[in-house]
Amino acid sequence: MLNVLSELSRVLDTRGNPYLENTHAPISREIVANELEVIGEIPKDLTGVYLRNGPNQRWQPQGVYHWFDGDGMMHGVEVRDGQATYRNRWVQTDGLKREAEAEKAIWPGLIDRPDRNLQGWGSNGGLKDSSNTDVVLFNGKLLSMFYQCGEAYQLDPKTLETTGKIDLKGMGARSLSAHSMVDEHTGELIFFDYGTTAPYMTYGVLAPTGELKHFTAIDLPGPRLPHTLSITENYTVLMDLPLFWNPELLKKDIQKVEFYPELPSRFGVIPRYGDGSAIRWFECDPTYIYHMINAWEEGDEIVMDACKTHTPEPTSSLPGPYGNLLAWLKIDPTYVRYRFNLKTGQAKEEPMHDIFTEFPVINSRYYGRKSRFSYHVGFADAPTTMFDSIVKYDIEQGTIQRTKFGDDCFGSEPAFAPRDNSQGEDDGYVVTLVNDLQEQRGEFQIYDAKDVDKGPLARIILPQQVPSGFHGCWAPGDILSETMEGW
Ligand SMILES: [Fe+2]
Repeated sequence: MLNVLSELSRVLDTRGNPYLENTHAPISREIVANELEVIGEIPKDLTGVYLRNGPNQRWQPQGVYHWFDGDGMMHGVEVRDGQATYRNRWVQTDGLKREAEAEKAIWPGLIDRPDRNLQGWGSNGGLKDSSNTDVVLFNGKLLSMFYQCGEAYQLDPKTLETTGKIDLKGMGARSLSAHSMVDEHTGELIFFDYGTTAPYMTYGVLAPTGELKHFTAIDLPGPRLPHTLSITENYTVLMDLPLFWNPELLKKDIQKVEFYPELPSRFGVIPRYGDGSAIRWFECDPTYIYHMINAWEEGDEIVMDACKTHTPEPTSSLPGPYGNLLAWLKIDPTYVRYRFNLKTGQAKEEPMHDIFTEFPVINSRYYGRKSRFSYHVGFADAPTTMFDSIVKYDIEQGTIQRTKFGDDCFGSEPAFAPRDNSQGEDDGYVVTLVNDLQEQRGEFQIYDAKDVDKGPLARIILPQQVPSGFHGCWAPGDILSETMEGW
């Protein structure tokens, strides 16, 4: 059964922008669909919802569209009793509502000049907060977030409707960046933001009931562009990496990102409820890191696994009008382990694998605790950022499993979905949304987490494509048992 909730009558002119075409092409409908075709069999012991955020541009972009600009759209696939239901909704951000009234895009994008007549969001205040980047389950609601720092939009986990936002400013905080993390053992949300005016970073903790439990400024040498943080049981790791806006040009309101290889990467370890003055910085080789895998405490050390980029700034542009955009989004991250010794102040760095993967996830119960398995996506040989495979790392054994999504099929960040009454770190499934470009439809694929390389156990055919997106999470059935009634 297919229920169309909304449908746009117009089609965007992509202007040849590859981040608006193929697997990145925005979709025009919000739907609910069930009784879906299944190739294979949906495991009966899998109950919950996969939620994934991503860009889905609604109005014709004013300038040059960047992949990071698109309006946030939430996709949800509920699995229960061997059946699946798919639903998608735009995140109703303040910016999107204003644009709906104007019936056109209002804010310039990331690589356009900001319009200072407009009030905006983001670290430099010039962007629309499209809330397109990450989603977590916090305090009974979905929290949709924006990579460049913005509002914390709350969505109903059942309907994916935007219900409001957490009043961060009202509580004394500023904004939050997309990679805020929930510690499932405490229910807390650990967050940070960054800005072009001092303080250049803030850090805080929301209590499981939503109140601001801790908030402090972090002293940085200037404006920075960190993408994520990592947590352990008692600490948080913040980043000051040498890829940031050229400070001289920034004074002229020109935002040009540059890599400064003469500067170290600095990782700041702060007690979870520590004052900014308590942070301890560890210096490592210059790099840029989009995504952490996990971190935990081991004796005197903080162990932190990450996808480390080896060439943060492109060495040359690619041909064509979008060559610069394509070049910046071509990255070469590999699995690296850092160790920060809190007793000696020493930092170590160890390469663990040499294949290029990104968008790592683990069993979310293990965030901040020692973990062994992670699930990433492998890059396709394509001009844009496209992922053709799932890669499972067993970092203790030093082995990987890799399986392709299928011919002309491209996926995005997976999630680990524990089996009902799961026992053990990889006792469950790996799920992801995939686009089949030949059939022009989406799929929800379910893999056995222990045997990812055996291919999907189930391919659930969706009635529309699902553009390649950013981050997702798995909300287990026991967490959503009440809210899922009547999904
Ligand atoms: Fe991210």
